[in-house]
Parts: sequence; C-alpha cells; structure tokens
Amino acid sequence: IPGLVAVILKLSLLLHYSSLFPAILNLASNAHISTNATCGEKGPEMFCKLVEHVPGRPLRNAQCRVCDRHSANPREQHPISSAIDGTNNWWQSPSIQNGRQYHWVTITLDLRQVFQVAYVIIKAANAPRPGNWILERSIDGTEFRPWQYYAISDTECLTRYNITPRIGPPTYKRDDEVICTSYYSRLVPLEHGEIHTSLINGRPSADDPSQKLLEFTSARYIRLRLQRIRTLNADLMTLSHNDPKELDPIVTRRYYYSIKDISVGGMCICYGHARSCPLDEITKKLQCQCEHNTCGESCNKCCPGYHQKPWRPGTLSAGNKCEKCNCHNKAEDCYYNQSIADQKRSMDIHGQYIGGGVCLNCTQHTTGINCEMCADGYFRPHKVSPYEDHPCYPCDCDPFGSLSSVCVKDEHHSNSQPGTWPGQCQCREGYAGEKCDRCAFGYRGYPNCLRCNCSLVGSVNEDPCTEPCLCKENVEGENCDLCKPGFYNLQERNPQGCTECFCFGVSDVCDSLTWPISQISDMTGWLVTDLHKARSVQPQRSQFDGPHQISINNTEAVKVLKNTYYWSAPEAYLGNKLTAFSGDLKYSVSYDIPMESLDSDIMFSLVLQFQGNGQILSTRAAGLSLQPYEEYSNSVRFVPENFIEFNTRKAIDREMLMTVLANVTHLLIRANYNIAKNAVYR
Ligand SMILES: *[C@@H]1O[C@H](CO)[C@@H](O)[C@H](O)[C@H]1NC(C)=O
Ligand SMILES: *[C@@H]1O[C@H](CO)[C@@H](O)[C@H](O)[C@H]1NC(C)=O
Ligand SMILES: *[C@@H]1O[C@H](CO)[C@@H](O)[C@H](O)[C@H]1NC(C)=O
Ligand SMILES: *[C@@H]1O[C@H](CO)[C@@H](O)[C@H](O)[C@H]1NC(C)=O
Ligand SMILES: *[C@@H]1O[C@H](CO)[C@@H](O)[C@H](O)[C@H]1NC(C)=O
Ligand SMILES: *[C@@H]1O[C@H](CO)[C@@H](O)[C@H](O)[C@H]1NC(C)=O
Repeated sequence: IPGLVAVILKLSLLLHYSSLFPAILNLASNAHISTNATCGEKGPEMFCKLVEHVPGRPLRNAQCRVCDRHSANPREQHPISSAIDGTNNWWQSPSIQNGRQYHWVTITLDLRQVFQVAYVIIKAANAPRPGNWILERSIDGTEFRPWQYYAISDTECLTRYNITPRIGPPTYKRDDEVICTSYYSRLVPLEHGEIHTSLINGRPSADDPSQKLLEFTSARYIRLRLQRIRTLNADLMTLSHNDPKELDPIVTRRYYYSIKDISVGGMCICYGHARSCPLDEITKKLQCQCEHNTCGESCNKCCPGYHQKPWRPGTLSAGNKCEKCNCHNKAEDCYYNQSIADQKRSMDIHGQYIGGGVCLNCTQHTTGINCEMCADGYFRPHKVSPYEDHPCYPCDCDPFGSLSSVCVKDEHHSNSQPGTWPGQCQCREGYAGEKCDRCAFGYRGYPNCLRCNCSLVGSVNEDPCTEPCLCKENVEGENCDLCKPGFYNLQERNPQGCTECFCFGVSDVCDSLTWPISQISDMTGWLVTDLHKARSVQPQRSQFDGPHQISINNTEAVKVLKNTYYWSAPEAYLGNKLTAFSGDLKYSVSYDIPMESLDSDIMFSLVLQFQGNGQILSTRAAGLSLQPYEEYSNSVRFVPENFIEFNTRKAIDREMLMTVLANVTHLLIRANYNIAKNAVYR
C-alpha cells in the first residue's frame, strides 16, 4: 500500500534523531469492534451482489445468497469482527429492503488505549464503498470529533456537511484541518474498493509533528458513521445507456454496506521517549519501553529521582532527557520546583546551579534541597564530603552548657559565623568547649558554672579562679573588688587599681561613686582663638573634611588672629574632668596647600595646653615635619609626667593636675608652623 509504505518510511527516519519513536502498528487487530446493524440478525435475509446485476455487463453466475446471523454455517454469518480478523470474511449490513433506516449504521472501534493514529484504510467487500459518511475520533468514548467527511458528490459536502469540498485526491492545509472529499465515494469499483485516509502524512508538520498534530491524531475510539449507501441510480448513465427500468429490481431494493477490512495504522504515544512498545502480558496493553529516564504508561513523566529539569516531550531536534537530581546519594526521589530553579538554588550532578530538583526524604540525617546539609542536631566535620556515606555526626551538645541541641552544621555555616567551626555548640554564659561541657574562663563548678569571685579589674591574677585573689596596690577585699580607704575609681587600666582621693587637702577619705565615663568625639563648637579666647574664627567644614574633622584657611585666620593661634575646645570638654585623670586626649593634624604653591613641607610645633583654677598646664612642645595631606595623630594621657607648668616650665605633681582637672576652663591645641600662607589646616 503506497500510503502505508510512505508513513513507515517517514517514521523510521525519525529514529535517527535524538528523540525516539516506536514503530507503526496495525492497531485494529487488537481492538474491540461493534456495530448497530448486521445482515441477518433478525433471521435469514436474501442479498444480491450489485456487480452481477448491472445492465450491460456480462452476467456471470448471477445469483442471490442468504445471510443469517444465527446460521450454523459460518459462511452465512457476516459479523463486524470479520472486518478486523485478517481473513477474507466480511461484515455486511442489512439491506435497505428492511427499511431506509439501514442507511444509518455506526461502527465503533475501541483501541483499548490512546494511540497516535497515522492512517485508516477501509476495504469494501462485495458492494461499492459507502457514499456519505463521517470518520470520527474520541479519547473517552463519549465525545467524538470528526477526522474527515466523505460524500457521494462535492455538492453533498456542502448540503450535508456544510463543508467546502476538497476537489480531487485529499490534501491538507492545516495540521488539524477536517476536509470533505468525494474522492473515495465513487461507484466504481463496484466491489473491493478501498478508502485511504492519512492523518499525519500530507499535513504541514508531518515531518516533525506539532503539538496540534499530536493532539489531532490522538484517539482511543474510532467511529465510522455511515449515512448513505452508494446506489446505482445517479450514476446509471456512466455505466449504461440503457433504460433504468432495465435494472433488476431484485437488486435495487437490496443495497447494503459491505466491509472486508479496516486497518488502523498508528503507534503508542511515548512522547518521543521510547523506540518500542511491546504488549504487557498483565494489563494486555501496549506499554512504552521508556528511555531518557522517563516513566509512566506513555513516558509522560520523569522517573523518580530524575526531576532536575521539568519533563518535556522529545522532539526531533531535542531528546529532552530527564536529568537526575543531585541528592548526594541520600535520597531516592525528588521533585521539580520552578521557583527554586529561578533562584538557582538546586545543584545538578555536574555541580552547577541549573534546574530545580528538590530532594525528597533525605536519609542519614541530611536535609536541604540537595541533601547537602546535616539535619538539626548533626554536623559534617571539616574535610568530610557530603557525598560520603553517613557524613553527619551528632552534635552531642551538653544539656547543661548549651543553649540548644543544634551545633554549627558545616564549614559553609562556620564561615558565615566567624570564630566557629563545624560541630561547635552554642554555649550559655559561663560555659565553653565544642560541646559546652566545661566552664568558661573565669567560671568554675561544672555542671553549674559560676563566675569566679576574683575581680579581673582589681586583682593581678591572670585567672580569676586561682585563689587567693592577689589585689592591686590600692585595692582590697577577698575578691579584690574594693578600693582601699583613701582611694577611689577602680579601673582595669589603672595598674594600681584605684586612684588616691583628691580632696583639695581638706580630707583624705572618699568613696567611689559610679563615675560617669564617656567619650567625646564631636567637633561641633571648636573654635580657632588666641590664647585668651578674646578673638576667634569659626573653622569650616569643607568638602574634603571627614566627619570628625574641621579646617581653617590660614589666609583667613591671620586676618583676625596673629600668627600663633589655637584650636580651642568647646563646653563639652570643659568643667569637672577629674575622671579624665589617666584618660587620653587623641587628635590628629594635617594640612594642604594649593597645587601651584611654592611652599614646601611644613614644620609643626605641637602643644596641648589647658587651664583651670588659675593654673595653666601644657605638654612639652613636639616638633614634626609633615607632607601636605599627610596626617599626624597624637595621643596625650592625663598623667602628671606628661605636663609641665606653662609659665615656669617646671614639672608638676598629681595634686596640681587634679586641681586643674577639677575645673577646666580652657583646652587648647596649639599648632605653630613655619610660613605657609596659603595652607589650609585641619
Ligand atoms: C445506529 O446508531 C446510530 C447512532 O446512534 C443511529 O443514528 C442509527 O439510527 C443506528 N442505526 C440503526 C440501524 O439502528
Ligand atoms: C518551591 O519553593 C519555594 C521556595 O523557594 C516554596 O515557597 C514553594 O512552596 C515550593 N513549591 C512547592 C510546590 O513545593
Ligand atoms: C517521604 O516521606 C513521606 C512521609 O514520611 C512519605 O509519605 C513518602 O512516601 C516518602 N517518599 C519517598 C519517596 O520515600
Ligand atoms: C563567690 O563568693 C560567694 C559568696 O562570697 C560564694 O558563695 C561562692 O562560692 C564564690 N564563688 C566561687 C566560684 O568560689
Ligand atoms: C583661602 O582664602 C583665600 C582668601 O580668602 C582664598 O583666596 C583662597 O582660595 C583660600 N584657600 C582655599 C584653599 O580655599
Ligand atoms: C570654675 O571656674 C569658673 C571660672 O573661673 C568659675 O566661674 C566656676 O565657678 C568654677 N566652678 C567651680 C565648680 O568651681
């Protein structure tokens, strides 16, 4: 059969591509077939072959025969099963002598599962081919849709079916076009005529079937709705010039349908993922032998564990294999999640973040999209790969010392929490160790770790838990947490611990209050003044100044002040600053000069000067040479050794320093420099 050969050739060509298609089969031989009218079902019935009674033809053995559905002689039976049994027997309908209703006969094939139908070939037996009829398809056996209309004439296509006839041999313009043709309804041959209906070949996407064509050709049920028997009357003139009255009335009243064979060519629907579909002995259905890691009756899904990418049908150009999820060998199955794919959070088996496989039921205490992480309460030690068997170890966090039973799970987690490592439990205050199963430094008494009593501020002990506590010089008490009488302000930075009381010589007894200690770093309010703060210039904050930085344009400053001027601290730095004793004042200086300036490096002479209670103290002048933009930072500690009396230049004692600190009225930084008129100082 030319049509069949062409279809088979085309489909076998497909096998050379990356996708797979099973071979074409005759699906009718395995089908259930039924009809609602069969010759002789109500008792013996006479029929006469038309071919033996056409006028003008030589009469050979003209005779009529009998059909009887219930006859003991199988040759008198013509059941519908004859149309698919592969023998020469045929199905025959009751003749219209029994009533005009026998023009309307329906034959239904149930292929018993959904197939891709490529063609339907019908062979007539001892009568002409049907005249008007419709070939229909259905997936569910309830809703049928037409595949093709057949009519006695092109006019009938329009009048019966309201479809513009396709003239000549059938052609198709669209993948799902339903045409009406009179090509296969002609009277001749009077017997053994054939009807070839191709559903794939000749359609636009036949070579690489489109989704629409696949849908159009999918069917489980095929129905032939025969609606008009082909009779002689209209075509008489083509056969004979004789008078119609010459026709044998025995015949003309006994027209009937007769079909010897119905073959349905098609293949299993395996969506391009199987090259064969053998019969399953248990289900008696054809079962795709899925490849490309696909599963399901028609390879219509990915197999368990192969959901890294979404399932897609194999097309001629792309195999579209299902890809294994990377569960580090800890899970059997996974599912595809598009949003995980979009977020690039699922790792494929090549270690790339492509696809959206999410592992299901990770084993061996693992969890995560790829079973790459240990479950809560477990950790994967340094250098253990997540691919290893049993990579997760219990945290075993100590129930007394730990905040939870969860520890740092792996290196990835320890990298995001500095100072931790895999397996580290989260310790309560006073506990330490990987499992928090011992006391932290400064605590003792596991399992009830208590803070040791030796004060780290007031003792010289390196470990507050070693006893006895050895107190700093001016400290006392069992735990070294009290100032000796006559001392106050216990500070860790003070090597003596406490500072001697300073009561302007009136008393030597004092108590430690809680001394407010804070840091000032705001530059707001600083001025540039002369020594007595009689004249002042407001410094600027230029675009080059940092947040804690002010600047002054020397050209501007010298207009108001003389060559020596001072950076003068505001209110916040003044008043009672006794707590600044042994504290630090930090500052930095720099300058810049215009590009074209001929000035070279500047020599600075720096002095910190402060006064209060009628005394002026200052540091010893420090000289330094600075490049433009270079920054010099200085830190001055408020201890007597760092200061001299400004006027006499004599060393001072603690009492003098305290006296001034008790009521600071001026805090000045003097920056003397050689001539650089155009400089801006910071
Ligand atoms: C066969 O069934 C079809 C559709 O149900 C109906 O139209 C037709 O009349 C039936 N024919 C006979 C002879 O019962
Ligand atoms: C897919 O993952 C997202 C998180 O990225 C989650 O919110 C969503 O529930 C998941 N969808 C399914 C079907 O599991
Ligand atoms: C995963 O676990 C759930 C609940 O325990 C269970 O219902 C499901 O069948 C399991 N899935 C697999 C693939 O083992
Ligand atoms: C700290 O002192 C208290 C009371 O003086 C005492 O009960 C406690 O045991 C001491 N702590 C340690 C760790 O010695
Ligand atoms: C400093 O002030 C002088 C005079 O006002 C001006 O010419 C000069 O450009 C200023 N320098 C800078 C760096 O702003
Ligand atoms: C601090 O000195 C200023 C100026 O000499 C004076 O007005 C003020 O009363 C003094 N404060 C105290 C608390 O002595």
